Amino acid sequence: MAVLGIDLGTSGCKTVVVDREGVILAAATAEYPLSTPQPLWSEQDPAHWWRGLVESVRAALTKAPGVIIEGIGIGGQMHGATLLDAAGEVVRPAILWNDGRCQAECELLHQKVPRLIKETGNRALVGFTAPKLLWVQRHEPKLWKRVRTVLLPKDYLRFRLTGDKVAEMSDGAGMLLMDVAKRRWSKAMLAACRIDESFLGRLIEGSEIGGTVTAAAAAELGIPAGVPVVGGAGDQAAGAVGAGCVTPGMTTIALGTSGVVFTTTKGYSPEKQGRLHTFCHALPGLWHQMGVMLSAAGSLQWYRDTMAPGADFAELCAEAGGAPLGAEGLTFLPYLTGERTPHCDPQARGAFVGLVRLHQRKHLTRAVLEGICLGLSDSLRLIRAAGTTVKEATVTGGGTRSDVWMQILADVCDARIVLRAGADAGPALGGARLALVGACGVSVKKACAPGPIERTFTPDKKAVKAYAALGERFRALYPALAPFSR
Ligand code: XUL
Repeated sequence: MAVLGIDLGTSGCKTVVVDREGVILAAATAEYPLSTPQPLWSEQDPAHWWRGLVESVRAALTKAPGVIIEGIGIGGQMHGATLLDAAGEVVRPAILWNDGRCQAECELLHQKVPRLIKETGNRALVGFTAPKLLWVQRHEPKLWKRVRTVLLPKDYLRFRLTGDKVAEMSDGAGMLLMDVAKRRWSKAMLAACRIDESFLGRLIEGSEIGGTVTAAAAAELGIPAGVPVVGGAGDQAAGAVGAGCVTPGMTTIALGTSGVVFTTTKGYSPEKQGRLHTFCHALPGLWHQMGVMLSAAGSLQWYRDTMAPGADFAELCAEAGGAPLGAEGLTFLPYLTGERTPHCDPQARGAFVGLVRLHQRKHLTRAVLEGICLGLSDSLRLIRAAGTTVKEATVTGGGTRSDVWMQILADVCDARIVLRAGADAGPALGGARLALVGACGVSVKKACAPGPIERTFTPDKKAVKAYAALGERFRALYPALAPFSR
């Protein structure tokens, strides 16, 4: 007996086969292309997602022969707009989370709904779904006339699996069409986007069953018909479930190309200016807040590729440990691809500030590591100010391989940094865990438990104080330099 957990990523679809004890028996990934037909545009063909799902499910199942699949849970890239006509056919390529074409529509939405932040818990960002709908209405009106259904990417896959139009809350919250506090569609936002509720699916929780696999889909996948498909989750919430972050106050920091600080909250407590994302969590009665930094480990990758091509990341980070805290007055701003949290500014730019002749490579590297941590701590500051006490954070992603970096993170965030076994399994495992809960009746406590702690980095009091002062300098630099970025 087992379940399938699926992660519909931006570069590929990953499937894991997970047994009732939560152990991953097999995994497989199938890749697909991303298209950028114009500057700022980012699109994908939903048919490629479906093919990726079929290929990765079939490949994973051949690695776990004989298992009986009892449930499916899908996690996936958030915010994308998949537009279908009355017959359920895709009318144009899906517009993705990292598409930047609709800044004007974001401003329009704020004008149309002056209490937008109160209603949705969030600001309108170009990544979100609602402004994308306005963009299509304004730029492709003929095409929009045919649209009868708007689905998020992973909910489109569910539609292909079960034939049901269903949306799920953690992901639905990122459409900017929900009253996130009440966990239902927002009449005000639907009116502003000129869409009827029938365009959107029935809203369900991540662990709730949303339909069962049709005979046709089952034949394509090589599983029996009738397998239940649970709500699943947006990739960040699914990743959090995979890492066991489902109890109020628990915080994770994902240190990948982008950086995400994610906290589970028991109530709805949005940041007043909407600088944090405040979304439903994938389990009933829980919400989450998250700060998204666009270039976290991505900044280090850029730095290595341009300043130290071929150098080993581990070597570079260890070398940075030989430079003093504060890198002799050098500060790095990690806004290489604009920034979401806290600045919400696609035009924010990176910088090295304070260079002098004594600076060597180790100082530059240290400044990059510190700048990334200071950027992440900006999100943590907002989470704390919104009412959550954070004393410990579980870190996932490539950055966990550097002890120097993890200690800087502990000192900058003034929080214990812990690394846990299995925490990196990501959204696919989160999807599987939600299926264990919803389709197999396993308790949340058992299915979604965090893995055991393997390493701990404790903040050093003196370093915490020094970084608090550096943080003030760091935060003063963005507004001072912003006029030069435009
Ligand atoms: C979250 C976000 C990303 C995408 C792609 O707000 O934009 O996590 O879902 O991974």
